[in-house]
Amino acid sequence: MGIISNPFSLEGKTILVTGASSGIGRSTAIEASNLGARIILVARDENRLKETQAALSGQGHRIIAADLTDEMALNNLVEECGALDGVVLCAGKGLTRPVQFCDRSRFDEIFNINFFSTAELLRLLYKKKRLVKGASAVLITSMGGTHVFSGGNSIYGSSKAALDSFMKFAAKEFAARNIRVNSVCPSMIETPLIHSGAITEEQLAEYAKRFPLKRFGRPEDVAYAAVYLLSPASAWVTGTSMIVDGGFSIS
Ligand SMILES: NC(=O)c1ccc[n+]([C@@H]2O[C@H](COP(=O)([O-])OP(=O)(O)OC[C@H]3O[C@@H](n4cnc5c(N)ncnc54)[C@H](OP(=O)(O)O)[C@@H]3O)[C@@H](O)[C@H]2O)c1
Repeated sequence: MGIISNPFSLEGKTILVTGASSGIGRSTAIEASNLGARIILVARDENRLKETQAALSGQGHRIIAADLTDEMALNNLVEECGALDGVVLCAGKGLTRPVQFCDRSRFDEIFNINFFSTAELLRLLYKKKRLVKGASAVLITSMGGTHVFSGGNSIYGSSKAALDSFMKFAAKEFAARNIRVNSVCPSMIETPLIHSGAITEEQLAEYAKRFPLKRFGRPEDVAYAAVYLLSPASAWVTGTSMIVDGGFSIS
């Protein structure tokens, strides 16, 4: 095998990023473009996708606005995206609600975007051979549900735990085409998502002090893990969930 001059480079690769209109997805799109990738930006809000596009390095990036819970939109996306060297499936939604108030409609709302749309998109990209041989898929799961079980987080957490499990099955099966599948498993990251729930700003500030590194994560802390998993530097890494949590799991 030849020596790769920079194993962390994404030069010449096309990478699709869902959730690219905000937070972790936006940051991942920016960092992947800084490493040379052409990005296909996906989310519902076209204006915010354009803001992300304006922040990207290089040329040739595309926007495909789509609600991933809409079956037709998801199918159109798979038709339109062309060949991909990588995907980062980041679109998702939070919910804080005690178990006794978690009725079926709430499960449907969160599982539809966090689990079913993500799993279905990955399935179709593989089945329709959009993912080229050697491609890398990165799913953004969460410590909440896989390692941390905070009150009120049952639906969100179980949707992410299901996704983390699905990632491992896909990794095992997709290895036949040398396609890798991994997840990044973040703890609290400073994005609109953590400010949209039932936790007050005071509670959030107290919570941040419990992290050994004394702060919540930033979107780029997750993006750097994602671009590593997209790059040739991680060529022998598959079926892994990479914890990015400021040391919370050892606190
Ligand atoms: N922030 C954290 O502490 C944290 C921790 C662990 C894991 N995560 C996970 O990281 C991912 C990104 O979260 P974030 O913190 O960056 O949140 P965010 O800033 O709220 O971004 C969520 C993204 O998902 C997109 N999205 C939501 N519903 C969609 C739909 N139906 N179709 C298409 N796109 C949709 C949103 O775009 P539009 O509104 O434009 O559609 C947005 O780009 C999520 O999966 C989240 O669960 C976050």
